[in-house]
Amino acid sequence: ASLWLIVPAAGVGQRMAAACPKQYLRVDSEYILDITLRRLLAALPAAGCIVPLSSTDIWWPSTNASSDGRIATCAGGNERANSVLNALQALAPTAKNEDWVLVHDAARPCVASDDLKRLLKKVGAHSVGGLLASPVTDTLKMASPQAPNTVSSTIDRRHLWRALTPQVFRYGLLRDALQGALNQGVAITDEAAAMEQAGHRPLLVEGRSDNIKITVPADLALAGFILGQL
Ligand code: C5P
Repeated sequence: ASLWLIVPAAGVGQRMAAACPKQYLRVDSEYILDITLRRLLAALPAAGCIVPLSSTDIWWPSTNASSDGRIATCAGGNERANSVLNALQALAPTAKNEDWVLVHDAARPCVASDDLKRLLKKVGAHSVGGLLASPVTDTLKMASPQAPNTVSSTIDRRHLWRALTPQVFRYGLLRDALQGALNQGVAITDEAAAMEQAGHRPLLVEGRSDNIKITVPADLALAGFILGQL
């Protein structure tokens, strides 16, 4: 089975309140998207790579990645699931149902190559696929819907994980699961959720908790620190 990389980068990064989407902010003077793609392709040089981009994107041509012949682009969609499905459709002429598709957030530049390789190794023997995840360490409180600032209960965290990316699934199963979720109008925020909706049980592979998703401005300095330690 071949391996394909999809790096959805079509988000507009509203929570960042910056002048450009967060994947085009810089850490140590390099675009976050360039860092992410450079690290993924260094660890997985044989994989085909495709990046869904927003139709309003004016920054891509100034990235290093845009002049890398190994990287293709396609149109993004309104939701992340649409962006990933577009990329899967763009791969359709060459990808086979049993191929592996690795989806990784453009906004997670700190992914460690050891984590990438361990995830692929663990998933290789699995029929469906799986994701990097990190056990929850905080104590979690459920608020009451009537009083959003009041605790109604404490959630047992022993079986709770934070979903990270990469997430790796069989091409055909992921395409059908995303299409199914979109057809049913179910809101999903990662690929694993679409697989779960379709009745699959993705494998959880413990990954480093410093594989952060750049979300708020303070994450930029943190990412610079983490990248310096990797
Ligand atoms: O908004 P969030 O942080 O969940 O986005 C995660 C990733 O999905 C980002 O890399 C973003 O660019 C991408 N995305 C996308 N298409 C969308 C929304 C988000 O490719 N419509």
